Amino acid sequence: MSGPLSRREFLASTAATLPLLAPAIPHAMRPLRPLPPSRWAAKPVVVASANGLRAVQKAFDLLIAGADTLDAAVEGVKIQELDPEDDSVGYGGLPNADGVVQLDASCMHGPTRRAGAVGCLENIKTPSEVAKLVLKYTNHIFLVGEGAKRFALSYGFTEEDLMTAHSRDAWLRWRANLNPTDNFLDVPDTERLTTPKTGTINCNAVTPQGDISSVTTTSGLSWKIPGRVGDSPIIGAGQYCDNDVGAAGSTGRGESNIKVCGGFLTVEHMRRGMKPADACLETLKRVVAATEPRLLDERGRPRFGLSFYAVNKRGEFGAATLYPGRYAAHDGTAARIRDTAYLYQRGN
Ligand code: GLY
Repeated sequence: MSGPLSRREFLASTAATLPLLAPAIPHAMRPLRPLPPSRWAAKPVVVASANGLRAVQKAFDLLIAGADTLDAAVEGVKIQELDPEDDSVGYGGLPNADGVVQLDASCMHGPTRRAGAVGCLENIKTPSEVAKLVLKYTNHIFLVGEGAKRFALSYGFTEEDLMTAHSRDAWLRWRANLNPTDNFLDVPDTERLTTPKTGTINCNAVTPQGDISSVTTTSGLSWKIPGRVGDSPIIGAGQYCDNDVGAAGSTGRGESNIKVCGGFLTVEHMRRGMKPADACLETLKRVVAATEPRLLDERGRPRFGLSFYAVNKRGEFGAATLYPGRYAAHDGTAARIRDTAYLYQRGN
């Protein structure tokens, strides 16, 4: 049986991990505050969209290593931003109608009650990091377009081509099939590219001490009109965090979320006592009530997808979708994919 660690043994054990972790968090909100695992009364909780299984594991590992909640959440979603295989986020995200990748992101830091966001950011792979820099270093909340890029470059980010072979090929196929009478010959649409895609990753983290942060990042709707900004960078829509209550975020059709301020509304539902999944469902009911007939099927159900994810200050979490869906969560024990609550069954 091993006894309590001496101070020297504890410093030696953490020294093995600290140098590896510290440089991995650029512009950290605060230095790591390591706590020996045996001293955690309860474990942190991280919840994300279904593409965030690696994100929740990374964020959880960083929280256990003593990282701040926003640093942990941003480092988590950066995995998807940098992954060329995820065509809904960051590098490799599907471009706008002109073939230009324009990225949106926002974040909130519960402990300091600050917010940051960027919209229509071009040629920078990790907009979530840039949103965190707006939050941390400026008197502003939301930077867009050329100004957002110049701001990122001033902090040492480098401009890069965000198109991959896959995203360029997808855009070229979409353009070819756009109009049967134009000068581009139609090509087989096996990937159903004519239907625009939404993607996005949202991630929310809470520590047992009740500190909370949230982040959402996306390349937005594929083939969007240049300049279109979705819900992800809108504070109160793409995500919202109140350190007294909880955090919530969204993926899916941004226009439908913006109209109900879904991130904010979900946190307000939790403030009035709803559990996270119920709060998400209640927000989705508001979305349906606010939906124009052109976007509803003959039974009054939305023809689009929209999801909300939420965590409260006690570490309870949940998610809801319009139709059966999935999300990622680390509940303090393991990271895994779970089923969402939902409003409607698919089909008739
Ligand atoms: N929810 C992502 C977007 O609509 O841009």
